[in-house]
Amino acid sequence: MGRRALRRPDPAVDLSAHLKTFDELPSPWDAAALFGRVASLEVEVGCGKGLFMRTAAARYPDVNFLGIEVSRKYARFSAAALVARGLDNAVMVAGDALRVLDELLPDASVAAVHVYFPDPWWKKRHKKRRVMRESLVRDIQRALWPGGSLHFWTDVEEYFQTTLELIAEVSTLQGPLQVAETPAEHDMAYRTHFERRTRLDEQPVYRAEFRREE
Ligand SMILES: C[S@@+](CC[C@H](N)C(=O)[O-])C[C@H]1O[C@@H](n2cnc3c(N)ncnc32)[C@H](O)[C@@H]1O
Repeated sequence: MGRRALRRPDPAVDLSAHLKTFDELPSPWDAAALFGRVASLEVEVGCGKGLFMRTAAARYPDVNFLGIEVSRKYARFSAAALVARGLDNAVMVAGDALRVLDELLPDASVAAVHVYFPDPWWKKRHKKRRVMRESLVRDIQRALWPGGSLHFWTDVEEYFQTTLELIAEVSTLQGPLQVAETPAEHDMAYRTHFERRTRLDEQPVYRAEFRREE
């Protein structure tokens, strides 16, 4: 996904507490066992290089963060960044977010789901590969607890509009709530690497937030 080659994490660093495969996750789901504590849980779908995971985990130490990234290389990179910063409230899954939400996350177990800049799959015949599809929207609604939120940002206006229509059609999530753009106070003060890239290219970012009804 990135323009630059990814730095390889030091193989001597122990990632075992911060990087899991699907089969290593507790089944049935047990967030307290995975994180070693009970806390509210936020989930990111498609973390890329993991900027959101590390900044959010550092900023909200009382929240547990589960990042799901299908590319093992990026999941490892993101996990290594968590280890380097001593962030024990965040765990990466190298796996398919569709499967984690469908098969593992129980009803009303998640405070927020974050989906930032999902792959657009531009070609018409590839659009069915998009992660924001009916099954995921239904799983997000089911997994969010009442009052929980879905954050969806993209740089692709057509993906944004299609997803807003899909959410309205197949869920009762309330929104879209307006999300204002905040000024970047420093070079990495962006929600994700793709937000950084898009804004430095002076392209628009489409942002929406939805809430599960109380
Ligand atoms: C365009 S990148 C955006 C990365 C990051 N969210 C950002 O904004 O910088 C999309 C990421 O989603 C990942 N991805 C795509 N499908 C996925 C799935 N089903 N489960 C987990 N990750 C997925 C890709 O491997 C890629 O890293």
